[in-house]
Amino acid sequence: MACPVGADVELAAKIISEGGLVAFATETVYGLGANSLDPIAVARVFEAKNRPQFDPLICHLSSREELNNIALNIPDVASVLAEQFWPGPLTMVLPKKEIVPDLVTSGLKTVGIRVPKHPLARKLIKLAGVPIAAPSANLFGKVSPTTAQHVADQLGDRIDYILDGGPSEIGLESTVIDCSSGIIKILRPGGLTNEELESVVGTVEMAKDSDHPHDQSQSSPGQLPQHYAPRTKLILEKIPKRPLNVSRAGLLSLTSPKNIDEFDAVEILSETNNLKEAASNFFSSLRILDEQELDCIIAVPFPEEGLGRALNDRLIRASQKD
Ligand code: TXA
Ligand code: MG
Repeated sequence: MACPVGADVELAAKIISEGGLVAFATETVYGLGANSLDPIAVARVFEAKNRPQFDPLICHLSSREELNNIALNIPDVASVLAEQFWPGPLTMVLPKKEIVPDLVTSGLKTVGIRVPKHPLARKLIKLAGVPIAAPSANLFGKVSPTTAQHVADQLGDRIDYILDGGPSEIGLESTVIDCSSGIIKILRPGGLTNEELESVVGTVEMAKDSDHPHDQSQSSPGQLPQHYAPRTKLILEKIPKRPLNVSRAGLLSLTSPKNIDEFDAVEILSETNNLKEAASNFFSSLRILDEQELDCIIAVPFPEEGLGRALNDRLIRASQKD
């Protein structure tokens, strides 16, 4: 049975405190939330998403003042980043306190933490009175949801409520950084750009596979080679050409190429070449193309700057098939 969808934040908070599952709007993507301090509720999150338990969840707080409740040995640089970028699309991985169950962190000694910017998300966390553990509210490995309808389509019969806060403003998941050693490493590029981070902490590095807590390169799910995947085959091409050997081909591009009319379905992410607008449209456009019975989608890579880096990361992973 499909679960209710609405903006009743009191009801949503009650469901969380009683061990239920609530998908909720954030400014990045919709999250699938449970009381992070209740291992049985957290286990239901993994089950609803078909998510492997080696993949740790982010704990969401309603304000940065709550950081000390769940993290230990917070380096100065993390406090500076929290001051600057929370609430917002930044997840910091820090040493965890005992109170955070091992299931949330997949047995790691660290926990990913974020204060979302969306006011409804923060109200939900505040009313629930506990940190909310939430991965993106999609089936594991599939395209992330940026509207309540996207969540309902994939998870509607597996969860208890969808807290509808409108379309996600940023449209890409948070940037995940490892702060546990005091040196900043980017585990997953996302809604906060390298340029923004570097304006505060100087140079940042992209993490190597060996920096990810569990080896086999799957510690940050964003790091699984195949992720964010549509059903339709996705092919990356700098100069998009319609393949001749298929009957229906789609195009996903930042701006309109000259040969746009050759394609059977087209999603242009920002006619004005604006990467912010492109990010907010990205997952919706990927879904729209995926629903059109195409033989393939030709996707044009983004400029490798600002949000373009995170967008290219998602495109590359969406193009991998196992
Ligand atoms: O924007 C977002 O981050 C959304 C919204 C709902 O907040 N959440 C999200 O969660 O994208 P999820 O589970 O789809 O991705 C969480 C990422 C994964 O790459 C995970 O491996 C990483 O954060 N992560 C979480 N805890 C970690 C830890 N202790 N060490 C390393 N990576 C961690
Ligand atoms: Mg996800």
